[in-house]
Amino acid sequence: MYLTKEEEQIYEGERGWTLQKAMQILVAIGELNGAERLIPIKSAHVSGASYKTIGDAYEFVERLQGRVAVRTTLNPVGMDLERWREMLIDEDFAKKQRAVLSAYERLGILAECTCVPYEIPPPRSHPLETSLASSPFRPREGEHIAWSESSAVIFANSVLGARTNMEGAPSALAAALLGKTPLYGLHIPENRNATVKLLICDEISDADFGALGLLTGEIVGDSVPLFEFKGIPSEDELKQLAAGIGATGSVGIFHVKGVTPEAKEDMISEVVHVERSQLRDFLESCGDAGAGVGSSSGGGGEPDVVAIGCPHCSLNELRRIYKILKEESKRSRRSKVALPFFIFTARAFRGSEIVRRIENFGVKVFCDTCFVVSPAFERFSCILTNSGKMWRYAPLLSQRRPKVILASTEECVKRAFS
Ligand code: F3S
Repeated sequence: MYLTKEEEQIYEGERGWTLQKAMQILVAIGELNGAERLIPIKSAHVSGASYKTIGDAYEFVERLQGRVAVRTTLNPVGMDLERWREMLIDEDFAKKQRAVLSAYERLGILAECTCVPYEIPPPRSHPLETSLASSPFRPREGEHIAWSESSAVIFANSVLGARTNMEGAPSALAAALLGKTPLYGLHIPENRNATVKLLICDEISDADFGALGLLTGEIVGDSVPLFEFKGIPSEDELKQLAAGIGATGSVGIFHVKGVTPEAKEDMISEVVHVERSQLRDFLESCGDAGAGVGSSSGGGGEPDVVAIGCPHCSLNELRRIYKILKEESKRSRRSKVALPFFIFTARAFRGSEIVRRIENFGVKVFCDTCFVVSPAFERFSCILTNSGKMWRYAPLLSQRRPKVILASTEECVKRAFS
């Protein structure tokens, strides 16, 4: 791989141990993937921030010196940084989680702790009145970035037209420190072209998008899909699609005809028809059927918790959930939900009126964390969610291997009141 003189000096350690390690990581990855050179990036997003998943490996981050070279955000951690006691997180975990966070913050990484960095409003703006289009946290079309967190990577590539490979935590951190990434994979325009078209024969909505994402990995392997839907999916539905695809497949980008910026049909060599019934069949083949779309981990089961916000809820999703809560509260004649009910969102909305109103129904809205990366939710054995990604990951990342039922947002709220 070609290195400039300055990059060579860094590689040789002339600019210190931290940058040398970062350069060694990028060169190793670049050479493995046939990259010709490094290219500058505009931003980085680093995962592996929860003490539950990273463990004591964070001590390596503590040894790093210096500052990141580009704006860098951090994925969710293992607890709400303000309300962790309410989550029943113990002191020891909280102490270690804070140490992880300090290690990253010391490098200049912004501890926004969200998996939807593209939904962070501009600094000093009013989060409820901001147009995200003007946010510096939202990558622009054609911009090279180095993000980890599969759902965010796929969303940034597909919906925003930014360019990133599916980075792991070490390579995203190395790229952040150097402000560069190797030129290969999805940074090269030809590798982004759709080669298989998925014609979605029925109207789908809400949790169907997460289920479709899970199924897509099975259908397309490592080909790039172009979806053609009946109707125009919302950005939140595309977010669920991205998260589902990232949970089962190796695809880092998709296109939607008439919606996403790089949707083209000239390289399509195969067309696959997908019916709504296949989504249910797919989920049933992974586990026994449950309520709603399907359930993972086998067996029927009554949910003992409702969890929404994987990926973290947008403002629009919060508003929609509030509307459904209000309707279901009226219909059921209950003022509070009857099941433990958790929503996860970005910190920008903490203390907002919409969150206060949602919590009036007995729902807990936590920031900085999520159901999957926090140890606080291990006590539940049957989760009801609208997220395909949570459906996939909650049983894998919890010692208790809970059952997960995937259902629409309406069904989740309805069940919470019954
Ligand atoms: Fe985000 Fe946690 Fe889901 S990090 S994508 S809410 S598993």
